[in-house]
Amino acid sequence: MSISEQWNDVFTSNYGSPRLLLTEGKGLHVKDSNGREYRDFLGGIATNIVGHANPKVIKAVEDQIKTLSHVSNLYAHPQVLELAQKLKELVGDDSARIFFCNSGAEANEAAIKASRLTGKSRIVAFTNSFHGRTIGALSITGQPGKAAPFEPLLPGVKFLKYGDFKSLKKGITKRTAMVMIEPIQGEAGVLTLPKGFLTAVRERCTEVGALLGIDEVQTGMGRTGKWFGYQHEGIKPDIITLAKGLGGGLPLGAMIALGESAKLFTPGTHGSTFGGNPISVAASRAAISVIEDDHLLSKITSLGELIINTAQTFPKVKEVRGAGLLIGIEFIEPIGSEILAALEDRGFLVNSPNPTTIRISPPLIATETDVNDFLVALRAILVGRL
Ligand SMILES: Cc1ncc(COP(=O)(O)O)c(C=O)c1O
Repeated sequence: MSISEQWNDVFTSNYGSPRLLLTEGKGLHVKDSNGREYRDFLGGIATNIVGHANPKVIKAVEDQIKTLSHVSNLYAHPQVLELAQKLKELVGDDSARIFFCNSGAEANEAAIKASRLTGKSRIVAFTNSFHGRTIGALSITGQPGKAAPFEPLLPGVKFLKYGDFKSLKKGITKRTAMVMIEPIQGEAGVLTLPKGFLTAVRERCTEVGALLGIDEVQTGMGRTGKWFGYQHEGIKPDIITLAKGLGGGLPLGAMIALGESAKLFTPGTHGSTFGGNPISVAASRAAISVIEDDHLLSKITSLGELIINTAQTFPKVKEVRGAGLLIGIEFIEPIGSEILAALEDRGFLVNSPNPTTIRISPPLIATETDVNDFLVALRAILVGRL
């Protein structure tokens, strides 16, 4: 049986059927079942923030699983205390309080529930946003095609145009419990905001007493060159949601609440059996220490600029967007999946979030040589198509 036949024989068909069976990975590289090597320019799916099989992550996971594999949230354990302190430090606010869960959707569910505890229930989100597939997270996802089959969703959600300053005053009111926004919309094809937009949203939220929730599931953990995407604008959110890169390749999500919103959850209001699992948390701490010890953030911005400045000169390219190592390359025609397949043939994995775009989100360990090799391959493919 082919890989897709084996897949279709056992799985529900929500993912389509993959062409490759990946069997091992090291650093930026992965190997398939035929022994072919690829550079993983998708980084898992923006998850393997310090690459595959990172030695420090392996050691942390091994040490932890030998010591204590899981403990309920009825008890503390050293790893979870350390990671929560570290996240407070990265956010730079002593009022920050953390809730751990397992995924991005769960982190956003936690944020939605916290916002309801303000006594208000209306949420403002943005067109094209993606916040996850559970009913609550889907309700604030601004992609009607993904949400429509599951209606009725949560009531009281309004979508404003992403990046439209004019809509903020009327759209965000005293009745708004929370505004939820991604600093860059990764799943939509890496859409960016005009400068000053997050600041304007922050100001309007403060004016009307709404919480500002920033979904950093994809942009967090250094991906855009700072620990969190909102830090490029110097604003302070009320709620931050994290997952993907947070676990260093293992499942881990978090909601971070700051200031008054840190007091919203009280005993019994929320929970997660595996949230803050010691093994995922150990992996996360190791990944953060790799980013710090190897000074990875110092080169992320310039790598991103190299990709943007180079790729936008290629034929068939309409626009290159993003920041750091979260980049979308949009073509003038719907050739995303064709380019994806051609890159795969040349040994690079990417994805195509919509028909005209490919997205890259390699691990932060990617070097200038990796990036240049990718650009050479992409250029050759696009020139060959002329
Ligand atoms: C911005 C954002 N939020 C939330 C999610 C959902 O995360 P998960 O798939 O871990 O539930 C994603 C996943 O792509 C995301 O990009």
